Amino acid sequence: PRVAVVFGGRSSEHGISVVTAGAVLKAIDRTKYDVLPIGITRDGRWALTADEPERMAITDRRTPEVEDVAESGEGGVVLPLDPGNREVVVSEPGSVPKALGEVDVVFPVLHGPYGEDGTLQGLLELSGVPYVGSGVLASAVGQDKEYMKRVFTSFGLKVGPYVVIRPREWELDESAARKKIVDFAGEHGWPLFVKPARAGSSIGITKVDDIAGLGDAIAEAQRHDPKILVEAALRGREIECGVLEFEDGPRASVPSEIPPPDAHAYYDFEAKYIDSTPGIVPAPLTPEETAEVQRLAVDAFEAASCEGLVRADFFLTEDGEFVINEINTMPGMTPISMYPQMWAASGLTYPELVDELIQAALR
Ligand code: DAL
Ligand code: MG
Repeated sequence: PRVAVVFGGRSSEHGISVVTAGAVLKAIDRTKYDVLPIGITRDGRWALTADEPERMAITDRRTPEVEDVAESGEGGVVLPLDPGNREVVVSEPGSVPKALGEVDVVFPVLHGPYGEDGTLQGLLELSGVPYVGSGVLASAVGQDKEYMKRVFTSFGLKVGPYVVIRPREWELDESAARKKIVDFAGEHGWPLFVKPARAGSSIGITKVDDIAGLGDAIAEAQRHDPKILVEAALRGREIECGVLEFEDGPRASVPSEIPPPDAHAYYDFEAKYIDSTPGIVPAPLTPEETAEVQRLAVDAFEAASCEGLVRADFFLTEDGEFVINEINTMPGMTPISMYPQMWAASGLTYPELVDELIQAALR
């Protein structure tokens, strides 16, 4: 079969997507699959790129970019659009791709808006091309931190306290919106986490220790999404669990634990990718806790109607309760990411994982 690996994209997680795609390209069995690497530039142009996974890595603390070498300026790690393949550029800026070429399946290795949020999935549905991972609804639910919580709550999963500030609320009466947050802090205490409702990799998130920091945090979150979410800090251990859909249904991986941060205030972008805080796999949990979080991870997969894969992130509170923080329908799969490491610890190598995902899409 012919697999189009699509990566990069218009979201702030562009660079992480390129790194994940590098790992995926390296792991795909080339004796079994024909591979078409398709990069999406930050301005939304789709094109065939050079098949050079070794260049798709973090260098000098910077993530790689899909860029036209001819157009790019100085600095950064640039992944060239394949100069020998200009004729297969599949879209121009400001237009949707006209053709993907002859492909049997698309692997959308994309994180965040316009990739992991159901928009690309909708395009692929319209085109009738099978693809790896969740469909339109699950992708959209998994991208919006408000609706994700609403879905989880209605399916009986525990979520932490939060408050949403919608764009219209902010525009109509900024001081009322601000008061809503301050009242929330009065009830749940500081610090608070101010987040864009639809983003990822901790981008745009600020931990706010007191009222003085609130204004900047709101502005930063709103740079990424006009809808913002404010969450209470949950005291507890951070536990993640992978779910993969096999032929007989979804199964959970062994869970992992993100150790409490020292240099970092929380598991932020730098901690995740640049300083790569190592996760502990398997998480040191009791057998009962492990079984519980695995059950809840599969529940989260089913609650959002996910397909293919998901990574579910929890807090294990001091009361011994698992509170779900979020899911990622296309979790990072860089060589240091937790999702592939959890599956490796569960007996599935990275190449086997990639094969399983493509096979699930083709079923
Ligand atoms: N959103 C990032 C890629 C993750 O959850 O792994
Ligand atoms: Mg997370």
